[in-house]
Amino acid sequence: MLKELNEKNLVAYALMSALDGMLSLEKIKELLENPKSAIHGDVAFPVFSLAKILRKAPNVIANSLASKIRINDFEKIEVVGPYINFFMNKEKVSNEVLQQILLEGGHFGDFNEGEGRNVVIDMSSPNIAKPFSIGHLRSTVIGDALANIFAKIGYTSVKINHLGDWGKQFGMLIVSFKKWGSKEAVKAHPIDELLKLYVRINAKAKEDPTLDEEARKWFLKLERGDQEARKLWKWFKDESLIEFNRLYKQLNVSFDSINGEAFYNDKMAEIVNILASKGLLKISEGAAIVDLKKYDLNPALIKKSDGATLYITRDLAAALFRKREYDFAKCIYVVGNEQTGHFKQLKAVLKELHYPWAEDIYHVAFGLVTKDGKKLSTRDGNVILLEATLKKADEKALKQIDEKNVNLPNKEQIVHKVGCGAVKFFDLKTDRMNGYDFNLDLMVSFEGETGPYVQYTHARSMSILRNANFFVDKEQTHALKDDESWKIVKLLQIFPQIIKRAADHFEPSIIAKYLLNLSQSFNKYYAHVRILTEDKEKAARLALVYAVATILKEGLRLLGVDAPDKM
Ligand code: ARG
Repeated sequence: MLKELNEKNLVAYALMSALDGMLSLEKIKELLENPKSAIHGDVAFPVFSLAKILRKAPNVIANSLASKIRINDFEKIEVVGPYINFFMNKEKVSNEVLQQILLEGGHFGDFNEGEGRNVVIDMSSPNIAKPFSIGHLRSTVIGDALANIFAKIGYTSVKINHLGDWGKQFGMLIVSFKKWGSKEAVKAHPIDELLKLYVRINAKAKEDPTLDEEARKWFLKLERGDQEARKLWKWFKDESLIEFNRLYKQLNVSFDSINGEAFYNDKMAEIVNILASKGLLKISEGAAIVDLKKYDLNPALIKKSDGATLYITRDLAAALFRKREYDFAKCIYVVGNEQTGHFKQLKAVLKELHYPWAEDIYHVAFGLVTKDGKKLSTRDGNVILLEATLKKADEKALKQIDEKNVNLPNKEQIVHKVGCGAVKFFDLKTDRMNGYDFNLDLMVSFEGETGPYVQYTHARSMSILRNANFFVDKEQTHALKDDESWKIVKLLQIFPQIIKRAADHFEPSIIAKYLLNLSQSFNKYYAHVRILTEDKEKAARLALVYAVATILKEGLRLLGVDAPDKM
């Protein structure tokens, strides 16, 4: 449970009673600042807004107010010009923070904000018989992290892989397979082979329009449940999933549902009828559309003139289904920013339908990944290639681990945790709207702003604790007052706020950046302070190391990255 350790609260309450109701608690909190330099304390209160009310010089007000504040919660209070600077009682706060982390372990920072409520996360969602792009990889990694983050603040996360397994392209694929395909070839390299068949039929269809017509007929058969069509489609899907699942296993990501677009085939009529009955459907050149001019958006195309439904029709049916099935508090779509228009339309149509939950729909967009500054080609999205890339990350991790520590038990597992964690962490430390350049050497490096750097810091603190035979003693007090420790304590203290911010902004990078900051600060601490020196503060310093290890591990877990105890 989150106890309010927030130092601003402490200061705000102290000011509140000294001010005798002149300003509200909220207003005081708004005015409080975090001084840039530690010589000005931990929290500062500028008195300018009181000067207007009291018509006195700011410095006079600051002095008289400071004299009314009960000092015992603070180490000292200083007036500098128009500011009252508060120095927290380091011993008291460090003891409280460390005690709480010792007591709660990885549960430090848990909230119950979302208790009894669901968050639906639409993530990964590759297309059957098509390459698994680096964008799908991003969606998988970001979606998984968000699921962990929301679970931490009490929600039940529902991870849905909205597979692209429906549409006219399956008609094309069936025709192509019947003409040129071989079962053996597809079995051997499903996605490669199916993609080749798809490309081949598209090229041929340009010269021979009857192929298009044939494909249309096969898709119609598929929609009507024709046995042969269904069987082939199902087989394409199963074979593709075998490949995708290998990748998911490598990434250690699982789903609560893999209901893709096809699942909504029999659920679209309802939403189309609702749109029609509310008078929202307009016929334009034979097609059924919803006008979205008032949202400054292009009309949403719901049904083509030949009766075929579209991507957005299936997303509308899916949204309705999910609301009924999960009664979600939020439904978030982790999809690249090239689909922003689509999700704006989706939300706008739901608003037109006057569903109040339209407000709970969020497109969590992200930027593009490049390689050597260039856009990645479809070939780079080959699952085999992605798997190979992840293996290469492991190889690079192995090389570095071997340089440091040759006798590692379970080396293979640890190496994979580092290699795979490196790729995930690099993705997640970037503000999601920004893209990044995919560079394995940078990602897997043990130095710099990387996952392995954080993992290594965690392993180092675990090794200190092992050497000291540390065990958690909940009775002991852990007061520290030196400036080096204080920096770390203050970072540990804000972990709950960091999680909350990451959830509110759908931004795992807030956690990743925090972990880098904590690691850097801890490594400086380690370089300056002799942790194992025998004196009365040794136990408290070890508790601090334990707290850092605990928070690093928990933070990494939220990002889907494992923290081995040795590496
Ligand atoms: N399959 C789509 C693609 O690869 C992504 C689907 C995203 N989810 C959704 N509900 N539309 O572009």
